[in-house]
Amino acid sequence: MCGIIGYTGQLESITILLEGLKALEYRGYDSAGISFFHNNQIQTVKTTGKVSELERNVIETHRQDLSSTCGIGHTRWATHGGVTDINSHPHTFGNVTLIHNGIIENYHQIELEFATMGKYPRSQTDSEIAAMLIDHLYQGNPTEAIKKAVKRLEGSYAFCILFHDQPDVIYSIRLGSPLVACHNSQGSFIASDLVALLPYSKDYFVLPEYHIAKLTKSEIIVTDFDGTIISPKMLHVNWDIRSAQKNGYPHFMLKEIYEQPTSLHSTLIPRLNQDFLPDLTMDHIPNRIFDSINRIIIVACGTAMHAGLVGKILMERLLRIPVTVELASEFRYQDPILCDNSLVITISQSGETADTLAALRLAKEKSSTTLSIVNVKGSSIARESDYVLYTHAGPEIAVASTKAYTAQLACLYLLTYHFALYKERVTIKECQEAMKNFSAILPAIQKTLELENEIKEISQNIIKTKDVFFIGRGLDYALSCEGSLKLKEISYIHSEAYAAGELKHGTLSLITDGVPVIALATQSHVYPKMISNIREVRARGARIIIISNGDFPMENSIYDYRISLPMVDDFLAPFTAAVTLQLLAYYTSLYLGIDMDQPRNLAKSVTVE
Ligand code: G6P
Repeated sequence: MCGIIGYTGQLESITILLEGLKALEYRGYDSAGISFFHNNQIQTVKTTGKVSELERNVIETHRQDLSSTCGIGHTRWATHGGVTDINSHPHTFGNVTLIHNGIIENYHQIELEFATMGKYPRSQTDSEIAAMLIDHLYQGNPTEAIKKAVKRLEGSYAFCILFHDQPDVIYSIRLGSPLVACHNSQGSFIASDLVALLPYSKDYFVLPEYHIAKLTKSEIIVTDFDGTIISPKMLHVNWDIRSAQKNGYPHFMLKEIYEQPTSLHSTLIPRLNQDFLPDLTMDHIPNRIFDSINRIIIVACGTAMHAGLVGKILMERLLRIPVTVELASEFRYQDPILCDNSLVITISQSGETADTLAALRLAKEKSSTTLSIVNVKGSSIARESDYVLYTHAGPEIAVASTKAYTAQLACLYLLTYHFALYKERVTIKECQEAMKNFSAILPAIQKTLELENEIKEISQNIIKTKDVFFIGRGLDYALSCEGSLKLKEISYIHSEAYAAGELKHGTLSLITDGVPVIALATQSHVYPKMISNIREVRARGARIIIISNGDFPMENSIYDYRISLPMVDDFLAPFTAAVTLQLLAYYTSLYLGIDMDQPRNLAKSVTVE
């Protein structure tokens, strides 16, 4: 979704703004722009298309003189109004130049009022209306104008605002949309995403909602609506700047797939104690929260929801507590039945997904205990949950989630075993055994990555097809959902996941000669059933690609390709299978010439509804 960067300080701001926008490109966008003070005047350059296009325009327009030390930059992902240069941010009206992330829901009503006044031109976008409103209310005091304006606005927003008569100062406010900021000897920085701040600082703070930040070259002052200065809580991130760069890989997605042995090491190993038992002390999750839980509801979107599907199977099998998995966008409007004995687990890489955040807030309203599994430290979901289990996967830049997914699975495993041990659903010995097997997943993933050439061959084989089906049972079905999503989002090939036992209730009619069916067969307790399902599709002419856990004996007449993954405990097969499906999607996209890091129409972090 949209990206924001702002800087005022001693350095050349235009370079910082352009570099910041490049770092934010991964979020998905369709146009970009910057505004900056030059000789106390505001200059704006904006365009549809890529940041590289914007950079060319900046150089052409300002070839003579690029000097500025204060400015704001934005990447726009259109929600209201078409993708045009005019609709790109920053927007300027009167004394105000502004960038905005989020959606102003009542903008049309305000626009009608302005139309009656005849003061401003008609607008296509909610962000323009916000700029007009702040300008309309501005009488020399930026803070007062902002306060009055946001009282009229409904929806979500993160604003960075330049007032033309306040050179080198940036004002910011947010509600619902993220903003993080830091100050160091080089100046003051603000961004919608930590990744853009990483080159300058690892210490930052999240701007509290409904507080105004005033960024000057020497400091950042944060005040509440009564004018009281507050000191926001400083956070530290140990993400390395290199972790947000490609480091020799052709794409972020491939790099992130290959990072999984390391990222899972960070998720898992610090949470195993010397007796090889799960230890959530560093996460401050007290055992007492498990005392009264009689129901678990996992709520998430996209890939994170698919991690939840795996979590449900593990938890129900080990804990014998009913678990449901809900799409956050549905959950929030279904008047869900929740009570104080429910544990609501929200899963989110970004920690900012609007639907997941709304679901979390609803759960809290209904007095449920909330626990989130989140990658980004200090994100809204992390801050608002009662308890947080950080995935520690490092920054994930590619739109298609890979290492965050396996880290989410790892957190769900740890949580399940920790809970099961406390409730005496497993013995210490069983739990130790499980954790030993679990840590063996790291070399198994490394070995899976070595299957790359076999996977490439399968990708070559499916690039010309229109439809692909993924089938599996139990954990394999949960994995199929993720494999199918991964493939379709970055290859644009239609794909669907089916529970293998459900085939004959409809899907079989779609299976004709040559249709690829990717059959996951990693679960030994349903293995014979799975083989029967594979025969069913084989008999209709399907091209079969089998992914198995180890080298189960199987007639080679029932498949065209077979990937035998390194043998792991059945419960852990989702890790090796996930890596295989990620590589399959990656190479299919690569051979089709698609930019898999930024697939069309998709955004990394969906911060609006
Ligand atoms: C978007 C991303 C997906 C992600 C989903 C949920 O759709 O493209 O990769 O799984 O949002 O995001 P979250 O940050 O909440 O995990």
